[in-house]
Amino acid sequence: MSAQFDYAGKVAFVTGAGSGIGRATALAFSAAGASVSIADINEPGLAETHDLIVKAGGKAIANRCDVTKSADILGALEKTIEAFGKLDFAFNNAGIEQPGASIVDLSEEMLDRVLDVNLKSVFLCMKHQIPLMLQNGGGAIVNTSSGAGVIAIRNQSGYCASKFGVTVASKVAALEYADQGIRVNALCPGIIDTPMIARYTGDTEEGRAAIIKQEPVGRMGRPEEIAATVLFLCSPQGGFITGHALVADGAQTAGI
Ligand code: NAI
Repeated sequence: MSAQFDYAGKVAFVTGAGSGIGRATALAFSAAGASVSIADINEPGLAETHDLIVKAGGKAIANRCDVTKSADILGALEKTIEAFGKLDFAFNNAGIEQPGASIVDLSEEMLDRVLDVNLKSVFLCMKHQIPLMLQNGGGAIVNTSSGAGVIAIRNQSGYCASKFGVTVASKVAALEYADQGIRVNALCPGIIDTPMIARYTGDTEEGRAAIIKQEPVGRMGRPEEIAATVLFLCSPQGGFITGHALVADGAQTAGI
């Protein structure tokens, strides 16, 4: 049981749970007492997260789910209801990076892919999660945006467009369901030490040092720090927070 949050009897659905921020958040929900439904296309990663939860004494189900496909999302949510009876929280977090390229050089294929995986998926997840939460009298949704969903970054037009989209889709959903007991927030992490960042930096000392220079706090964030923020946003302590884009970024987007 987490010392800070008590999620006993609650059910959380987490996408991108086979790695990085999603895994840390699934583990945190479980440590706080929630039953967790984890989803990803990365089956070995998903199995590892499932093992970690079960070995720690938690309850979890794992489903392969491509978040760009409604049928996969519906299937994973159906299994969640079968296993745990309801849906209280969703962390829509699966995402991909975009290789650096100017608008002129960004391929149409990459643009479609980054918008589908990072943005369309969040619409589809909320579309299918909200009716389940309404049946249950409410719930809370956190969608993973980014610092790139708050400020523009050169050579990241597709990724930024996808994440600004996540920020605003979260705000619109919050407005639409505020009076029906569903809170929706966007979470905007700074540079977090995950496999995504290892790919982005080439996982070299120079690559890491160069990216850490963008962080005023002088270090990367840890996935567990983002997980704790998700648990706060879903908790009764965060009960008046909805329609917000919360940065957890070591002041990366605070200014220059
Ligand atoms: P990661 O690469 O470690 O994990 C992302 C997970 O999403 C992977 O397990 C991957 O298989 C899964 N995924 C990718 N496409 C999918 C699909 N179509 N269907 C289902 N699952 C899919 O990355 P990380 O860092 O944990 O990123 C999680 C989220 O946080 C992403 O949305 C990312 O854009 C966002 N983010 C990450 C930051 C960082 O510095 N690591 C900073 C700001 C935002």
